[in-house]
Amino acid sequence: MSTRLSLDPAYLLDAIPAADLERAMARAREARETLLRRDGAGGEFLGWMDLPRDAPAERERILTAAQRIADSSDVLVVVGIGGSYLGARAVIDACAPQLAGNGLRVVYAGHHLSGRYLSGLLSSLSDARVSVNVISKSGTTTEPALAFRVIKTWMEARYGRAGAAQRITATTDRARGALRELAGTEGYETFVIPDDVGGRFSVLTPVGLLPIAAAGIDISALLDGADLERERALVADAADNPALHYAAIRQALRESGKAVEILASFHPELQQVCEWWKQLYGESEGKNGIGLFPASVCDTTDLHSLGQFIQDGSRNLFETFLTVAGEDMDTDVPVMDGDADGLNYLAGRNFSWINAQALHATALAHREGGTPNMTITIPALDAHSVGQLLYFFEAAVAFSGYAQGVNPFDQPGVEAYKRNMFALLGKPGFEDAAAALRAKDAQR
Ligand code: PA5
Repeated sequence: MSTRLSLDPAYLLDAIPAADLERAMARAREARETLLRRDGAGGEFLGWMDLPRDAPAERERILTAAQRIADSSDVLVVVGIGGSYLGARAVIDACAPQLAGNGLRVVYAGHHLSGRYLSGLLSSLSDARVSVNVISKSGTTTEPALAFRVIKTWMEARYGRAGAAQRITATTDRARGALRELAGTEGYETFVIPDDVGGRFSVLTPVGLLPIAAAGIDISALLDGADLERERALVADAADNPALHYAAIRQALRESGKAVEILASFHPELQQVCEWWKQLYGESEGKNGIGLFPASVCDTTDLHSLGQFIQDGSRNLFETFLTVAGEDMDTDVPVMDGDADGLNYLAGRNFSWINAQALHATALAHREGGTPNMTITIPALDAHSVGQLLYFFEAAVAFSGYAQGVNPFDQPGVEAYKRNMFALLGKPGFEDAAAALRAKDAQR
């Protein structure tokens, strides 16, 4: 069995004229050159390219903090939003079920504004030993800052101020921001998000590594996997470079009129990887009025809900299947006396084999229906494979974004709702914006 991530474009290439793909590939190669020269747009945010950095002291500190959290807690609450929580959640969901388990449960807060969720979460923790990792690069993002205010108060009521401080870890900017200041005042242990790594590219920094390590996942294997893919993505020629290929195919499909890419996982454990991918691709490419809309489904579940649309609805879609070559745990289909459900023809088969046939059948059917598709396969649901997948997607979106002619490392569009929200919430300094909104509303 291969130990490397692979990309199979079998059900797609006849959808793209060879000359178009060749042109897109040439642009992807140029994009990689720009990236390697570090002189393209957003060049100050290329720190992710060098991850994993050789930082043994930091890795040691992460492992020590993670062990302390695991030993002293039943639950770790990760407080963060967007790039400050999606990566950790993706890796933990993908890898944790196969672990013997260190017993630590990781839960999430600060990723939306539901007060009902937050109060329910805290009520559910009344008998648990709790630690908290609050993560915010800016230190000022409203959702995690509000959630952390509530959780900090709860922790202090539970453990006292000094006791709570020993159970709270903050991951934030080296020097700036409200969280950095608060962590200093309260004496929390802190980890740094490097200046040159943007939120959605930060999973291989302490942002992701601390909660992932606390969950008992081998971060050295994760980083080794990422490093392996890094060497291939940044160096290998197109013939042996799935990231370059993926970037070129996506751009060729976009130029042919496709508007939506659906990442379709055939494993529920990878659903959060799809969520992480949506942020990475949506924020990196959706700007200047162009870009592929990144959607996701989890199959075969969603074949029974969105399958009809993907087979037969608007033809502006293409699909990228995400699957796993080998399962470490599986279930065999037993023989049933009398064969009442007519499934004895599958007796002795395991679910992985059946799932693989379902993917193959879906790829054929959707291609016939006008939804071209390709398949990314990772070797296993383990840290090394997921590390490869993370770097593959990061490199590919950088190639693809530059090839598309945008800066893949900024996200100016996310500020618009924030300005309106601050105005409506009455934040000091937003009085004029609030008056302008009221005037607009009055005209409706
Ligand atoms: O990609 C990004 O930059 C964003 O999604 C951020 O990660 C998200 O808004 C959280 O920001 P912060 O870490 O500053 O709280």
